[in-house]
Amino acid sequence: MPVPLLDLKAQYATLQDELDAAIRDVVESQYFVMGPQVVGLEEEIAAYTGAPFAVGVASGTDALLIPLIALEPKAEEEVVIPSFTFFATAGAVWNAGFRPVFCDVDPDTFNVTAETLEASMSERTRVVVPVHLFGQMAPMVEINRMACGHEGVLVMEDAAQAIGAAQRDEGGAMRRAGAAGFGAAFSFFPTKNLGGFGDGGMVTLFDEDFSDRIAKLRVHGGRQMYHHEMVGTNSRLDALQAAVLRVKLKHLDGWAEGRRTNACRYHERLKEVAELRLPVVAEGNHHVYNQFTIRAERRDELRAFLSDREIGSGIYYPKPLHLQECFAELGHREGEFPVTERLCGEVLSLPIFPELGEERVDEVAAAIRDFYGYGG
Ligand SMILES: Cc1ncc(COP(=O)(O)O)c(C=O)c1O
Repeated sequence: MPVPLLDLKAQYATLQDELDAAIRDVVESQYFVMGPQVVGLEEEIAAYTGAPFAVGVASGTDALLIPLIALEPKAEEEVVIPSFTFFATAGAVWNAGFRPVFCDVDPDTFNVTAETLEASMSERTRVVVPVHLFGQMAPMVEINRMACGHEGVLVMEDAAQAIGAAQRDEGGAMRRAGAAGFGAAFSFFPTKNLGGFGDGGMVTLFDEDFSDRIAKLRVHGGRQMYHHEMVGTNSRLDALQAAVLRVKLKHLDGWAEGRRTNACRYHERLKEVAELRLPVVAEGNHHVYNQFTIRAERRDELRAFLSDREIGSGIYYPKPLHLQECFAELGHREGEFPVTERLCGEVLSLPIFPELGEERVDEVAAAIRDFYGYGG
């Protein structure tokens, strides 16, 4: 049977009555913008992540952009980000008025490390952005320690793909993504582990004044209508999305367990395939597998082979950010970030969604084994 990369209809089918009722309630209230559903979700996400403040915005991109704008960048100030991530991380830095400075990543976890970030820092660095790629947190204890050695440098998590991911902190307790830096950005794009019925995002923060600034910037720079303390924008989270997300949030940890079970089964089935490198979970990390991403020899041939068998897969990401045309003026060259460049030619994300089930994991694994000439 065909195996899609992601099947959102399967998730909807399990919660249809609850979701439809939540939407109907909003429609009946005719309270579509901000209001109690948004405030409710903000409180629930703050409690879930462990960060004291949460501000809903229109997308994950805005959840990165608005806090960066709130820092009021000065000319030539820099933000260090990985070259191996989704474009939004770099786009937000650029659009906020900072200069994006790229860094390389670890070849096993796909994440930045304190060392790769620090290697790209200068006296102009104002912020570093560890991206918790594919649902696994970057090493925040080491990154925060490193940043502390650079006066005034803030650590902002790009947690767009990692809601529910956690990591052991210095004291040995598990700390969730969103509560491990100065602030964090989440995306509720439908393909995320907590996905809405459209765009949505959230910023989590520890600083009340800064959180207040972001709450103002998302509604044209003021809390009181027609009184503007600063020039903001319209980046409100809509009430229908908040209502959907509040229903889904209750199931998030269960879904993550489903993803982790699938990941375990892939590991079991694929461990002997020498042509692959399976995803590595760093010590102390709770991975929530927004993507299950392997490194594969002859990746493009493997992908075509899977596609012929109606098995979906994805390439996240095919081209490093430092080599994107729009950043040509930054003057980067091929070879500057070798791990990122290599990963772009090797990575392949396999179906991992929670409703996938053992049988389909086995089917995908069997097809991969077949491709490389391993028995069933
Ligand atoms: C790492 C990363 N950062 C930022 C974003 C932006 O989120 P959104 O698509 O909700 O704007 C995404 C989402 O795709 C992402 O994967």
